Amino acid sequence: MQFDNHGIVKMTKMNYDINRSAAANPIKIQDVSLRDGHQSLFATRGRTEDMLPIAEMMDEIGFYSLEVWGGATFDVMHRFLNEDPWERLRTLKKYIKKTPFSMLLRGQNLVGYRNYADDVVENFVQRACDNGVDIFRVFDALNDFRNFEIAGKVILKNGKHLQGTICYSLTEPRMGGDVYNLDYYLKKAKDLEGIGVNSICIKDMAGLISPYDVYNLIRAMKEQSNMPIHLHTHFTSGMGDLAIFKAIEAGVDIVDTCMAPYAYRTSHPAIEPIVISLLGTNRDTGFNVNKLAEIGKKMEKTIPKYMHYANQTKFAVIDTNVILHQTPGGMLSNLVNQLRQMDALDKLDDVFETLPKVRKDLGQVPLVTPTSQIVGIQTVNNVLFDKEEGEYSKITEQVKDLCFGLYGKTTKPIDVEVSKKALSGYPRGETPITDRPGNILEPEFDDVKESVKDLAKDIDDELLIALYPVTGKRFLKWKYGHEEAPKDVQAKTIEEVNKEQELVQKILSGELSAKASSTGKPKNLKEFEVYVDGEKFMVEVTDPNMPTYSGISKKEKKVNELDNSGNLIAPIPGMIMEFDRSIGDEVKAGETIVVLEAMKMLNNLEAPISGMLEKINYRVGDAVIKGDILCVIIP
Ligand code: CO
Repeated sequence: MQFDNHGIVKMTKMNYDINRSAAANPIKIQDVSLRDGHQSLFATRGRTEDMLPIAEMMDEIGFYSLEVWGGATFDVMHRFLNEDPWERLRTLKKYIKKTPFSMLLRGQNLVGYRNYADDVVENFVQRACDNGVDIFRVFDALNDFRNFEIAGKVILKNGKHLQGTICYSLTEPRMGGDVYNLDYYLKKAKDLEGIGVNSICIKDMAGLISPYDVYNLIRAMKEQSNMPIHLHTHFTSGMGDLAIFKAIEAGVDIVDTCMAPYAYRTSHPAIEPIVISLLGTNRDTGFNVNKLAEIGKKMEKTIPKYMHYANQTKFAVIDTNVILHQTPGGMLSNLVNQLRQMDALDKLDDVFETLPKVRKDLGQVPLVTPTSQIVGIQTVNNVLFDKEEGEYSKITEQVKDLCFGLYGKTTKPIDVEVSKKALSGYPRGETPITDRPGNILEPEFDDVKESVKDLAKDIDDELLIALYPVTGKRFLKWKYGHEEAPKDVQAKTIEEVNKEQELVQKILSGELSAKASSTGKPKNLKEFEVYVDGEKFMVEVTDPNMPTYSGISKKEKKVNELDNSGNLIAPIPGMIMEFDRSIGDEVKAGETIVVLEAMKMLNNLEAPISGMLEKINYRVGDAVIKGDILCVIIP
């Protein structure tokens, strides 16, 4: 039996033996369950303790590599799990000795949300090498490879694998048009080769790539050079498995998959059906499917700990919006959350309609962290405020940075008028730069080290603070016992989770009476008092449709929204990053008083009136909800 398609997949022998030997050209598999898998399905909440029981078994399968770090893991671990992200690498390395580790690195953004100075990048990448990362998948949200320069140098100097990444993006339902067409991708692949990468990844973070497009793209790339090609796609739109199969037929070298319990929906295709489908072909993985099933069984046991993070609002496992709007699923759910919290969910259609225009104005950038948030939040702002206040009336700080060139070069030029408006009064200057962004950033690591010398014990601590000054410091206080970690960041046992679930079920069925309590918990957390045999339990139920904010306790400070006084009110939920002024200061109307982080974007909140700053109601690091009075100014 022989298959078409340039003879690249063909039956070699009918050998379906579990212990069969490897094929002539086996497809290599990277498992991403321990990073992108739980990031996609369970808001990155996977704990190291739940990875250890399967770690040694995973090492025996024969994976090309395991993606275990990077992306959101670094942020979520120290913020929500009270875990040291560096320690996870070292711990996993003790159990996984044969299979290389890979990480996702956002170029000059590292594992944060802005471009860091070169000294931070050098130190961070060096420590990632030292702590056990073998393969670095480096990407840039704008596909501006100048942002790889510093990280790439350190990776190659350490003899590690530099995988250059092209973010896959579309402006139309299929590859083509005048932006993201075959030429665009072939040119990007050539550019990557020019900077000395060891392999090239097509990173389809949104699950947009369709089977014939990936087939044509990989054939063309293979004709252009013999650089190994790695496909990363998501199942989100439902095309994931089809794309992987056509990619294998086209001669792709490596693909990303998950173990079945962490697969599908917004995650990745599962490995098990691929192993069986390729049995007896020249691209047979050689994997033992029984061993995979054993790992899957173990993984299933910890799933109840994470189910409440899973989006279970729809019965369909695919997101057709991705096909309709060519936008990442995660970005859409962020937009929905943001609108809901601003009581403006009825504006969702307007947002869909406005998004392509904002994206075009901002240079048709690929939509991936952080550009997906930048474009998404600006779109929401335009929809909510522009009707009354004129075009681009509320421009976010990140859009200003993007216009200035601080993220790099956009795919197409940014609209001149929008750029002018964004850069009017911009502190770095009103003329955009054309240089590599890192070139204009002053070294910052020495200042960070100085600022944290009483708290940090080593360079890994210092790097954490360099990337996450507020939540990083809070974590180090937990880590070194200066403060007790709140209950909601501590690990729960499966027994505790089951007990809670039972109680919730009983409340829902009406078997138990419960009253919602009104502590100042984050909005997405509903707290119930439950009485079982006279004993009182507090049960917290999170609404998976709303983003979770760290549950720092706070006082009730609800206000009437039409407040025109000197109350500075949080317009959106978020976390306080800094107060720019102190109590007693004279402030002017319109000057920035508070910086609020919402959906990973920084928002400058301005004084509503001129006067004296009389009261500050929160501390840096506090989570606030829409309507909270952050400070009071008296005229
Ligand atoms: Co991904």
